[in-house]
Amino acid sequence: MESDRPFSEKLEVPEALTFDDVLLRPKESRIEPDDADVSTRVSKNVELNIPILSAAMDTVTESDTAIGMAREGGLGVLHRNMDIETMVAEIERIKRADELVIDRENVVTASPEQTIAEVDTMMGQEGVSGAPVVDDDDTVLGIISGTDIRPYLEVGETDEVREAMTDEVITAGVDIEAREALELMYEYKIERVPIVDDDDTLVGLVTMQGLLQRRENQDAAHDGDGQLVCGAAVGPFETDRATAADEAGADVLFIDCAHAHNLNVIESAREIKDAVEADVVVGNVGTSEAAAEVVDFADGIKVGIGPGSICTTRVVTGAGMPQITAVAEVADVAAQEDVPVIADGGIRYSGDAIKAIAAGADAVMLGSYFAGTEEAPGRVITMNGKKYKQYRGMGSVGAMKSGGGDRYLKDDEDGEEFVPEGVEAATPYKGTLASELHQLVGGMRSGMGYVGAATIPEFKERSEFVRVSSAGQTEGHPHDVMITDEAPNYSPDE
Ligand code: XMP
Repeated sequence: MESDRPFSEKLEVPEALTFDDVLLRPKESRIEPDDADVSTRVSKNVELNIPILSAAMDTVTESDTAIGMAREGGLGVLHRNMDIETMVAEIERIKRADELVIDRENVVTASPEQTIAEVDTMMGQEGVSGAPVVDDDDTVLGIISGTDIRPYLEVGETDEVREAMTDEVITAGVDIEAREALELMYEYKIERVPIVDDDDTLVGLVTMQGLLQRRENQDAAHDGDGQLVCGAAVGPFETDRATAADEAGADVLFIDCAHAHNLNVIESAREIKDAVEADVVVGNVGTSEAAAEVVDFADGIKVGIGPGSICTTRVVTGAGMPQITAVAEVADVAAQEDVPVIADGGIRYSGDAIKAIAAGADAVMLGSYFAGTEEAPGRVITMNGKKYKQYRGMGSVGAMKSGGGDRYLKDDEDGEEFVPEGVEAATPYKGTLASELHQLVGGMRSGMGYVGAATIPEFKERSEFVRVSSAGQTEGHPHDVMITDEAPNYSPDE
């Protein structure tokens, strides 16, 4: 169809900005960084204590990263380059990680007839240092621990557990709270309290180790049952994965698509939303028109068309939206329905993360920032004496070959070569996730201090941008010096 519109009009283009194009305008403040409250919502019903998500990528988020993220108050989003059964097991692992009461099915128990040698071997294999002793009906008879049996001083290897166990067991009911459990343990100098029902049948276990872990992570993000929160990526047409992840307890499902402004994707995302209890975040989008199509049903909207460090979408397809403009456009629409916005990709420094929030995001998602951490999947490799971990785009050939191709609406069923939209790379090894998060959140808090905002909503309201020239960008990085010691939160772009 011929249009009357002259092509030359297309050159009257709006400007779109990204992180380096803007800075936060400093403002009068009484806010010390440590006082800034960084809690937020990632979706309509899920709150976080820090506004940070780890990306659904197979070199970033499996259960170890997700557990680490939730313990620090954020959210890990499991990637979907794994079969559905594996994803369910991963979700269950996250949910079990810091629960107060370990469910009966996960409690290692001993029987009174086992020999001391057998129970010793069993506890070693299961990685526990003690076990409730139960009869065939699961009635609690006693408790046996390493100190009762090792080094076989009072009992022989072939003696039965019933002879060595402590039979005056301190138990508690299912509604026990963490503080009461701790008090019991201190009072009786014990390390574990079996949880029983009215008939003294074992229904769970509280351990000192579990309690201490929970204490260490005071800011952990928990669901309504006190378990760590967990996100999971699902393909836009994967209703079976969505329902399985939902039933396994995922709190937020992320429709994982590189271009969610695709009407088939939106139709299917609506069906998934109707089929699950978990919140459903739809993405990725990068324009107000796309946001308007999903804002009526999405519990959150994720923004990012091609800003990621390993993305080649913009150069391969010629399409994309610089991230600060994309976030602001989407946030304008999302605000009308009070739907949270997540800025996904392109964040290199804590300053980028807080700029994304100023542009209207409620939380940010990062891939490269976390790919080098201890918790990320994959092993550490050494090149020229430096340590690295693998980091690859989910649209890279390697990731698509392991199953993730449909994020980019591609498959190789015909045996044809993939047209990738991402690269495979290595990223410097960085140590623990907790220390990376400490730097990231610390920088964001300081940004809130410069703007004088005590909370994320206040910061979104109060912050203003100034436009930065290329001379201004150069001025903003260390210059005219040779860096002699690496800072924990800055490495120059190469
Ligand atoms: P960063 O910059 O944090 O970005 O490493 C992570 C985000 O990048 C997206 N992603 C991709 N985008 N091709 C793309 O165009 C890819 O192969 C690819 N893999 C991941 C994704 O949104 C992720 O959260």
